[in-house]
Amino acid sequence: MIEIQNVTRDFKTDSASFRALSSINLKFQKGRFHTLLGPSGCGKTTLLRLIAGFETPTTGDILHNGRSILSLESHQRGFPMVFQSYALFPHMTVFENIAYGLRVRSTPSNDVRRHVEEIAEKLQLTEHLFKLPMQLSGGQQQRVALARSLILKPEVLLFDEPLSNLDSRLRVLLREEIRSLQIQNGFTAIYVTHDQEEAMSMSDHVVVMNHGCVMQTGSPEQIYFRPETEFVARFLGDVNILSPTWLSQISFSLKDLDFINSDPKNYSIAVRPEQIYLSTSENALKGRLLKKMFLGHRTRLTLSLHQQKLVADVPAQEATGLQTGMEIGFVFAPKETALVRPSQPDKTYDSILEPDL
Ligand SMILES: Nc1ncnc2c1ncn2[C@@H]1O[C@H](COP(=O)(O)OP(=O)(O)O)[C@@H](O)[C@H]1O
Ligand SMILES: [Mg+2]
Repeated sequence: MIEIQNVTRDFKTDSASFRALSSINLKFQKGRFHTLLGPSGCGKTTLLRLIAGFETPTTGDILHNGRSILSLESHQRGFPMVFQSYALFPHMTVFENIAYGLRVRSTPSNDVRRHVEEIAEKLQLTEHLFKLPMQLSGGQQQRVALARSLILKPEVLLFDEPLSNLDSRLRVLLREEIRSLQIQNGFTAIYVTHDQEEAMSMSDHVVVMNHGCVMQTGSPEQIYFRPETEFVARFLGDVNILSPTWLSQISFSLKDLDFINSDPKNYSIAVRPEQIYLSTSENALKGRLLKKMFLGHRTRLTLSLHQQKLVADVPAQEATGLQTGMEIGFVFAPKETALVRPSQPDKTYDSILEPDL
């Protein structure tokens, strides 16, 4: 297990100090697939580099299996990192790129060959072993980078947006390959991405970050269906955020929901488009259909009620008869909604600490 204890990282520039990470506390359980998810600039790479040993925290500690690793150099920690840019040695063959880590460890060359061939087979690189990286496609180069890390049988493998340079079809394919390699080999994965679908489809555990802070952690289902803040709700996908004022207009009772010693006035409700259902019941809410968009497996409806627009994704066959301008009955189930705190003003902390004198 890797533990991040109260880690803060400040970067000093000419005139000021910038807090890239603010009091981070996290546990990465062994053998699981963890994702750091958040918008560009929120501190994901910085946190990964701290774990790898390329950076040191300004305050706080990082533990591996209960022991601080801050005094260890990056190569002593032995957590390989797979980068967006592949970072292969351009003048070495694929074989030599994959073999590199074993050669550094003075592994006998028969063993090197056996291990390289084995891993190349797994990653469909066998026929490319004697090419140079520049003779391969992006996806193949990223497989070489993966093979080069996996051959070391690391306990922990770090990934910094490894699929961002690839086209979308290949991204989905490699996502599945990385996840099944992780399950087969049992390493702990810490995977950085800004893509919420990538995070949800690959992970056991997702850490949502913003402005150098951890906003929420949990399983993909927890953060998608039970976001605690408007930021997390919106970052994970389309969502209707319904204010207490609007909810009172439709006589939605907040009392049924679980407010732990907090004032319901400060909360909104998050409802995913697929959690709104069409209904012909008398008690259903009645909204005006503003827009209808066929998406294939679902049809997306935009409804309006009491000045609030609501987006609903319904099965396409249920929407066939509907026309814009019609009044439509719909419901959502209180127990499927999530209570969310409003988004903070753009910064959740003072990023400019104090000028350097
Ligand atoms: N070496 C550095 N010097 C100064 N600022 C940095 C440095 N590295 C990162 N930062 C700043 O820290 C913030 C977080 O960066 P980063 O961890 O790369 O974000 P992410 O990977 O989430 O996009 C950014 O505002 C970035 O400009
Ligand atoms: Mg980054």
